[in-house]
Amino acid sequence: MDFQTIYNQDKLLIDQALNRYFSDSDAPYHRLLESMHYSLTAGGKRLRPVLVLAFCRACGGDAQKALPVACALEMVHTYSLIHDDLPCMDYDDLRRGKPTNHVIYGECTATLAGDALQAEAFRSILEADLPLETRAETARLLAEAAGVDGICGGQQLDMEGDGKLLTREELIEIHTRKTAAMIRAACLMGIACGNGSEEQIQAAETYAQALGLAFQIRDDMLDVISTNEELGKPIGSDAQEQKTTFMSLYGLEQCEREVHALTDEAVQAVSRVFPNAEFLQQLVRSLETRRN
Ligand code: IPE
Ligand code: IPE
Ligand code: MG
Ligand code: MG
Ligand code: MG
Repeated sequence: MDFQTIYNQDKLLIDQALNRYFSDSDAPYHRLLESMHYSLTAGGKRLRPVLVLAFCRACGGDAQKALPVACALEMVHTYSLIHDDLPCMDYDDLRRGKPTNHVIYGECTATLAGDALQAEAFRSILEADLPLETRAETARLLAEAAGVDGICGGQQLDMEGDGKLLTREELIEIHTRKTAAMIRAACLMGIACGNGSEEQIQAAETYAQALGLAFQIRDDMLDVISTNEELGKPIGSDAQEQKTTFMSLYGLEQCEREVHALTDEAVQAVSRVFPNAEFLQQLVRSLETRRN
């Protein structure tokens, strides 16, 4: 099977599984469930859950069993987007081609939807049909990526950087925490589900850091060179918030070179360590020139 067919199949599996969460319309708090369901099923590339399944499979594990873990990661990611779009943060009104959660449901429900998605993510892992040790390790990895060392710490630094000229080192620190940490969690959670080796964990760490950085640099590029329609979220958001980005520091051509070099690094990292690394390598290559 070619790369795109596998990606589409995994994405379908994930989309179908996600669609089953928070669909109880009889609950007294159904509006909260509706808002969680709205953002969770609004679209999105599903990169992080696809990485969970791909790394699980690359270690020889059963990807189907990793599905609740993959969904958990997407729940935390979706919560982070709902909060990132709030008026107190990036103040954006378009996400995944649709009005942002707070535009439809209001700021209070959007805030609660994010809060609940984060807790429900851990429930999804802890109730999964996996060995206790695997549940504990994947939950720990997710907590590490979602907490102060990951998204929250990164978003704090990102917000404090508004209107300031940051150095390359400061910017890499922000990107590592707010974006690469979740990508790292995805890879390592997949390996935990597939019972991978220490050597495979080490390779995934390098792959994830390079991919995570390349992914956020590309995100910063698209914020300048894309369109609202193609991207599904408003372009120019970073300039409006006066953020230092790789684009503002180095411009388009240098960013392209950096993304290319990081992609090569990720491709290298997983070769020879996994029996079949082809999908992992094609995945990072496909992101190099992504348009959304
Ligand atoms: C957007 O993530 C936020 C960043 C970390 C850049 P994605 O680009 O993966 O967004 P979706 O999930 O496809 O909407
Ligand atoms: C946000 O980065 C990363 C998160 C942790 C949500 P951005 O603010 O650049 O993400 P987009 O461009 O709104 O998706
Ligand atoms: Mg932001
Ligand atoms: Mg944003
Ligand atoms: Mg962005």
